[in-house]
Amino acid sequence: MSDPAAPGPLRLGVNIDHVATIRNARGGDHPDPVRAVEIVSACGGDGITAHLREDRRHIRDEDLARIQAATDLPLNLEMAATDEMLAIALRHQPHAACIVPEKREERTTEGGLDAAGQHNRLVPIVSRLNDAGIRVSLFIEPDERQLEAARLLGAPVVEFHTGEYANLTGDAQAAELRKIAAMSALAVDMGIEPHAGHGLTYENVQPIAAIPQLAELNIGHYLIGEAIFTGLEASVRRMRDLMDAAR
Ligand code: PXP
Repeated sequence: MSDPAAPGPLRLGVNIDHVATIRNARGGDHPDPVRAVEIVSACGGDGITAHLREDRRHIRDEDLARIQAATDLPLNLEMAATDEMLAIALRHQPHAACIVPEKREERTTEGGLDAAGQHNRLVPIVSRLNDAGIRVSLFIEPDERQLEAARLLGAPVVEFHTGEYANLTGDAQAAELRKIAAMSALAVDMGIEPHAGHGLTYENVQPIAAIPQLAELNIGHYLIGEAIFTGLEASVRRMRDLMDAAR
């Protein structure tokens, strides 16, 4: 008999943005993020994540349709809460849209979305995405106030920002892990599906993967970086194995 308290499956969403970062460094079309999509599809990834940033520094508009045509895996489109990105999401109809904070000058997504402070800005965006059948996720810190804000907004999913966890060590990291675990349990109690991501590596993924309520991890930079040395198939498979071993 299966154990009702046992954790469910944990999906791995592979963020392919940084394949496009390398492509764009030379202005040509190599390496093509679509080739990464094909490899991830063939070797155990459960989804593709791509962030169309306002400055198009990695993924570009034309990549989205090509990614969608190349795979049956669900596409999780990371997007800022702007009218431009909303229109693009509605046009492309990705499986999911993860709303992230975005500052032009940041190197990566620094910190979670202030879903509580930006309630009024987010209401029409979340509701239009929900109405279009696109699964909305809010990229928030593991914080009760932000989780409550996500509930009020009607977001079916939250993704907890693990950047702080990834940057900390020792007792401080353990405390951050407890916070992510507690907020994951609270999310499920609220009827929200919890995901997590940012800064995850082979070394730090397992305590996060062991949180039984988490349903999905989104991992990018480290997997693409490791792929330089071992190939993308090997880096995705190794991450998948570590996640499975932690469940
Ligand atoms: N999840 C979200 C919402 C993100 O914005 C990012 C970074 O683009 C990731 C996950 C992946 O983070 P990393 O590239 O550090 O693995």
